[in-house]
Amino acid sequence: MNRELLRQYLAYYQDLGITHLYRFEPRAPAGGVVSEPRAPASGPSESLAVIREDLGDCRRCRLHEGRNKLVFGVGNEHAKLVFVGEGPGADEDAQGIPFVGRAGQLLTQMIEGTARKEGLPLLRQDVYICNVVKCRPPENRTPLPDEMETCGPFLVRQLLAIRPKAICLLGATAAKALLERKEGVTKMRGNWYRWRDIPVMVTYHPSYLLRPYNQSAKREAWEDLKKVLHYVYD
Ligand code: URA
Repeated sequence: MNRELLRQYLAYYQDLGITHLYRFEPRAPAGGVVSEPRAPASGPSESLAVIREDLGDCRRCRLHEGRNKLVFGVGNEHAKLVFVGEGPGADEDAQGIPFVGRAGQLLTQMIEGTARKEGLPLLRQDVYICNVVKCRPPENRTPLPDEMETCGPFLVRQLLAIRPKAICLLGATAAKALLERKEGVTKMRGNWYRWRDIPVMVTYHPSYLLRPYNQSAKREAWEDLKKVLHYVYD
């Protein structure tokens, strides 16, 4: 396609009211795993407020039918670290804030407790926390591929707006959404990957860590978090 044809396409989309186009990256290059994280490139970006406004009273997928509150994200717009979970649960749906239920309390403890132990002055409010889908799936089921695809562009925009120094993906759904890899979390956790030049750490979802038989995973998640916190805040 030449420049003129591309210009005409873009003008046509603009006439239709489409102001943003997204390109989904193919799978992370060379397996995506990197031994040393590299700082992301910077550039112009939009604000979270604009993205929230675009989402509006979203009815783009079936998940809006059962929601009480849309859960956009919470925390520092200029955070150096972003955590991405799966989707809101009952408490999040009631309050409109991500990770406020039991799993959320554990996540907060993990962030603040690890930071304190490592001598890093960091509170939950200093990071940014959001999910792959913004509305609660019925019975807390895993979001379906079409729901993730519909909501995904908003997550992409949030991440590009914040441009954190690193992203921490919590659990398999977040890992699948951003890294599109076949391995499970057990295999991926603790390694550095990259999403659009931003270093990414995968770790267990806090809900998984709440189960009593997963206590050894808890230790591993703490190790993963330590690695991320030192990379971002040292
Ligand atoms: N689990 C998630 O993945 N996200 C939340 O916001 C709460 C629980």
